[in-house]
Amino acid sequence: MTAQHIDTEKLASMAQTARSKAVAPYSHYQVGAALLTTSGNIYTAGNIESSSYGLTMCAERVALFSALANGVREFAGIAIATDNGASPCGACRQLLWEYLGDVPIILTDTESNITTFPLSDLLPEPFDGTKLSPESPME
Ligand code: THU
Repeated sequence: MTAQHIDTEKLASMAQTARSKAVAPYSHYQVGAALLTTSGNIYTAGNIESSSYGLTMCAERVALFSALANGVREFAGIAIATDNGASPCGACRQLLWEYLGDVPIILTDTESNITTFPLSDLLPEPFDGTKLSPESPME
């Protein structure tokens, strides 16, 4: 599954459906994510909020952690649906970079507008595992 083969409209539509299942009773800002694996599977999720606010988890990370927890390690792209086509927060950009690499980030809104950016445009000069010393215990 390469960038050229991604069905952008389908992935955006799945992110919009995931958005409708977001658990966002505090901000009322619903976000949906549809994460495409290189084998063609799609993991979807919405954001999940907590009354303590800080425990809230973004839709992108719920989808990513769901895929990782199921053993998936290779990803082709991600679609993110919001009401206004917002791009992912800084924390999600970091984790997406570390686990997806420079894949297309597909943004969509309630009007079904779609814009796509390479993740490297959203996170220039990233920090990642390649910057750690070889002696690092991280695996
Ligand atoms: N949110 C996401 O799900 N993804 C982002 O990239 C930005 C923010 C969620 C977190 C919170 O539940 C709500 O949007 C408002 O910040």
